[in-house]
Amino acid sequence: MGTATKLLDTVLDRAVVPGYSKIGYAVRRRFWPADPAPDSLVGRVAVVTGANSGLGKATVAGLAGLGATVVMVVRDLEKGERARREIVEQLPDARLELGECDVSSLASVRAFAEAFLAEHERLDVLIHNAGALPPERAETREGHEVAFATHVLGPFLLTGLLRPALVPGPGRVVFVTSGGMYAARLHGEDPQYRHGEYSGGKAYARTKRMQVVLAEQWARRLVDEGVVVHSTHPGWAATPGVSGSLPGFDRVMGPLLRSPEQGADTIVWLAAADAPGHSTGEFWHDRRTRPTHYLPWQHDDPRDRKRLWESCVRETDLAV
Ligand SMILES: NC(=O)c1ccc[n+]([C@@H]2O[C@H](COP(=O)([O-])OP(=O)(O)OC[C@H]3O[C@@H](n4cnc5c(N)ncnc54)[C@H](OP(=O)(O)O)[C@@H]3O)[C@@H](O)[C@H]2O)c1
Repeated sequence: MGTATKLLDTVLDRAVVPGYSKIGYAVRRRFWPADPAPDSLVGRVAVVTGANSGLGKATVAGLAGLGATVVMVVRDLEKGERARREIVEQLPDARLELGECDVSSLASVRAFAEAFLAEHERLDVLIHNAGALPPERAETREGHEVAFATHVLGPFLLTGLLRPALVPGPGRVVFVTSGGMYAARLHGEDPQYRHGEYSGGKAYARTKRMQVVLAEQWARRLVDEGVVVHSTHPGWAATPGVSGSLPGFDRVMGPLLRSPEQGADTIVWLAAADAPGHSTGEFWHDRRTRPTHYLPWQHDDPRDRKRLWESCVRETDLAV
């Protein structure tokens, strides 16, 4: 990328609205790195959580279009089957399977991982996409705050349990986080928002920040196993999640929102292209690495990073 295009890209990023919207996508795609080869995922197996809707569904179609067998992880099999059929209508050769899992439930994650490992010898791509913005503080049956359980604990446990199947070389793990995480610093001392006045937006941003840290932490642990781990934010895309959780934002920004396919572009690219296989633990948007902090006072305290990892290990009982 030349100096002028780099500058343009950075200006779009810092100006947020143009960069995150479909304008950013339209400008950057003129000079971003090459697409994955059309058969790059033939013979490979991918798992995508939150696969029945929005970015997850677009990611499934993107990966299947490159030849992967995709296990669509959904918490509602009926919705999953509907999404599967819609994708197959567009891509008749798509190899899609359904897997049932409520990512916020550790018991459900364990059951899914066991079923997956019984059926599959390999896992090449694991996409942690499932996400939610609970308006009120709520806990799962296992007593975990829902945003933390969905974005952090479930993906942490799923990564650990599926680790033995991750194939060295192609192995990629991708956390779909959010640009909203820039608004939050890492809260290692109270990850489940037990103290202070709860705000759904803050809980979302904090747990999305945690996903970025978790990706870095898993990256270090998996590097010797030949598996790379990245996180990415999709910008702003028109999905049922956005229209349902942020109706005001959706109304105002509607015409500028990316399509789900545009929002999923970098997720698919990270899973399939050569370039992102040469590094690990990076945070990406529109096929380029991005800083994880813009404000110096929001930099992670190493003690909070350690606390986050320790609380994931403690709550999930994962042997790592
Ligand atoms: N769209 C954007 O502009 C945007 C921006 C930044 C980040 N993101 C991130 O992108 C990801 C996808 O969001 P989206 O916009 O595509 O939203 P979406 O249309 O609401 O899709 C979210 C998916 O996650 C699933 N899900 C939620 N909780 C789950 C759980 N406990 N177990 C299993 N599946 C669960 C949902 O299943 P159900 O259908 O059963 O609810 C749905 O399939 C999220 O992580 C979100 O934070 C999106």
